[in-house]
Order: sequence, then structure tokens, then C-alpha cells
Amino acid sequence: MRAGHRAAGAAVLNQPDRIRVELGERGYDVIVGPGAADAVTHMTGKAAERVAVLADEAVAELHGDDVQDRLRDGGADVRLVPLPTGEGAKSLAAVEEACRHVIGRGFERGDIVVGLGGGAATDAAGFVAAVLLRGVRWVALPTSLLGQVDAAVGGKTGVDLPEGKNLVGAFHQPMAVGCDPAFLATLPLREFRAGLAEVVKTAWIGDPELIGRLESDPPGDPDHPAVAEIVRRCVAVKARIVSEDEREGGARAQLNFGHTLGHAIETEAAGRYRHGEAVALGMVAAVQLSVETGRCEEALLHRLIRLLEALGLPTHDSELDPDAVVARTHLDKKRHGGEDRYQLTLGLGSISVARDLPEGAPRAAVEFLRRPLSRA
Ligand SMILES: NC(=O)c1ccc[n+]([C@@H]2O[C@H](COP(=O)([O-])OP(=O)(O)OC[C@H]3O[C@@H](n4cnc5c(N)ncnc54)[C@H](O)[C@@H]3O)[C@@H](O)[C@H]2O)c1
Ligand SMILES: [Zn+2]
Repeated sequence: MRAGHRAAGAAVLNQPDRIRVELGERGYDVIVGPGAADAVTHMTGKAAERVAVLADEAVAELHGDDVQDRLRDGGADVRLVPLPTGEGAKSLAAVEEACRHVIGRGFERGDIVVGLGGGAATDAAGFVAAVLLRGVRWVALPTSLLGQVDAAVGGKTGVDLPEGKNLVGAFHQPMAVGCDPAFLATLPLREFRAGLAEVVKTAWIGDPELIGRLESDPPGDPDHPAVAEIVRRCVAVKARIVSEDEREGGARAQLNFGHTLGHAIETEAAGRYRHGEAVALGMVAAVQLSVETGRCEEALLHRLIRLLEALGLPTHDSELDPDAVVARTHLDKKRHGGEDRYQLTLGLGSISVARDLPEGAPRAAVEFLRRPLSRA
């Protein structure tokens, strides 16, 4: 949150947008744009006696004081509870420690948890809120691009096990989400780019015109003037999908576009890729599969590759082991009830689930990723 947002009148100039996630009594607003963090903290500080800010400890160093001050302005008793930075927040041990910390401070059922940080911190904080005292209210303040366009919206919360990511969790919708571009000013460039992969995914699924905007003026860093608008449009798509399908019975599965092979590549590459980078490769593979199986025009594959490259994302990797990557997708498939889960595309704005892929097609798609691609 920049100091400027506090200036008298700034709130009027910087009126953020409100995008509703329509879920009946569980519905809430995602507040997006300059001033969003102020608006959400102000509302939260007035809504509870105590507020526990569960924050990625690196993000807390940068933004924790501002957020706490603003919550206190609303009158709440505010405590900061540091979470291990990044994915380290998503463990049952970190959840236990955070719960004990919060309870030790006298937290009660009517109080509010705030998740501050990237997708890892908001996933973990939301999970704490889901299980603490059998469920308390929570608010997400996502500080990474990926968190703002994807992780913090939709109420999926959870943590990892040594056996795999996101294996323990709950659906627990927040009471509000604040996506403020001011947080992104401190985000490392690599994390920003990784978030852009989810932007491309979201635009591909539900806002084809945004793909055109990204192509004509690719945002090179978080200060790019289009970033707030990009976040707003992605949140609108995600809110619409979540409103249709809260618990991933149907429409929400579209959000896994690029993720079947993307997840497998992320795990197999053992730390070489950020999640978004692996999703970039996964989307190239998914579109290649879509072309190979006659669903999608080849020209779109080349458009995707050019766009991802313009955004500084990987589109090929000669070190990938196709057999290992495909074996990994089978493991994931078993875990998710034995269903094949390839989200392929018929073109921009159209995702279709493929259950009838020819034997060997996924392997060929990973093989395709191993070659530097023609830029035709
Ligand atoms: N719940 C969902 O629906 C959903 C959807 C997508 C992803 N996710 C989860 O989100 C997580 C990934 O999120 P992520 O990419 O934000 O990773 P992350 O939370 O690990 O953050 C990435 C890095 O950026 C740093 N960071 C974050 N904001 C910063 C800021 N403003 N300034 C400086 N540094 C900052 C963090 O400290 C961390 O080191 C994964 O755990 C994934 O499973 C959840
Ligand atoms: Zn993702």
C-alpha cells in the first residue's frame, strides 16, 4: 500500500472496482485496483474486535506495517502472525503453529483472519480460517500477480503434504478480497512473469479480447499501466466461473487448462520452474494436443508461443523426460478419482475436456516441448 493512497481525497480519485462472486449467502466482493487494500482493510478493521494477519514473512517485511496500521484505523486489535515464506506456508506444521499463535492471543469466533502474501500465504491463511474454531471469517490480500488473478479468488484453501501439493484443504470462501496493484511494485520480476502465465490461461478461457491486448502491448513489469486492468478482467472471468461452479463439478475445471501436463512438469522439474512457468509449458502442450487431435487451428499454437515468449515465459525445454512427465500425470489422475483430465481447446474462449485421447498423444505433446519451436 503506497502512502499516497492515504492522502485526503485519494480514495475518491482511486476508486477501485468491485467484482461480485455470486454465491448467495457466501457471496463476496473482490475489490480490484488502486486503493483496494485500503478499502478492504478499512472494512475489516471495523468488522471484528480482533484481526489476525497471517502473512508471508517476506511480504510482512514490505507491507505488514501498512496493512496493520490501516486495520487498526478501523478499531480492531491487530496481530501479525508470520508464515514461512512462499510454499513453506503450506504445511500442517505451519498451520498448527499459526493456529496456536492466534488462539494464544484470545481469538474468538467473531474475529477475522487476514491472509497477506502470494497464493501460498492466502491458501494457508484461508485453510487456517476454515478449520480454526470450526471456521471463522477471512479476508484475502493477495500480493503476487498469481494470487490476485487466480489463487485468492474462489475459496479453495489448503496445504501440501510431503506426498504432494494441495492434498489437505477445504472450500472456505473469504468475506472479501483486495487486489491492489501497489503490492505488485515489490514483486520480483520472475514471480510477475509466472503470474502472467495464469493471466494468459484466464484470458484464453474467458476473455479472448484480452489476449489481443497482451499481444499488442505485453506488460514487461508490474509498473506497466495496463496491469490493474488486466487483473480486473481476469478476476471478472474467475468470479464468473466460480459463481457458476463453486466446487469444481463442471465449469471450474476449465481453470485447469494447461495444468495436467503443467503440474507434472512442475513436479518432474523439481524446483526448476515456478508454477506459472510450468503452466506456460503445459498450455503449449495442451494446445499442441488440441491441434494434433483436430480440435484447434495450428496458427493458434504459434500465436500462443509468440505471446508467452513476449511475456518472458518458457515455451520449450530440451531436458524434459516425456515418459516421466506422462507417468506423473497418471499418478495425479489416480488421486483425482481416475478420470482423465485434459482440458483442451477448440480455440480462444473455448475449452473442452478430452477423455478420448489417442494412446501416446500426451507423450508426443511433451516430446514437442523438447524441441525449440518454429516461430512461423
Ligand atoms: N486456491 C487456489 O485456487 C489456487 C489457485 C492457483 C494457485 N494456488 C496456489 O498458489 C500458490 C502459488 O502462488 P504464488 O505464485 O503467489 O507463490 P507464493 O505465494 O509462493 O509467492 C511467490 C514468492 O513471491 C513472494 N512475494 C509475494 N508477493 C510479494 C510482493 N508483493 N513483494 C515481494 N515478494 C512477494 C513470496 O514471498 C514468495 O517468495 C501455490 O501454492 C498454488 O498451489 C492456489
Ligand atoms: Zn495454476
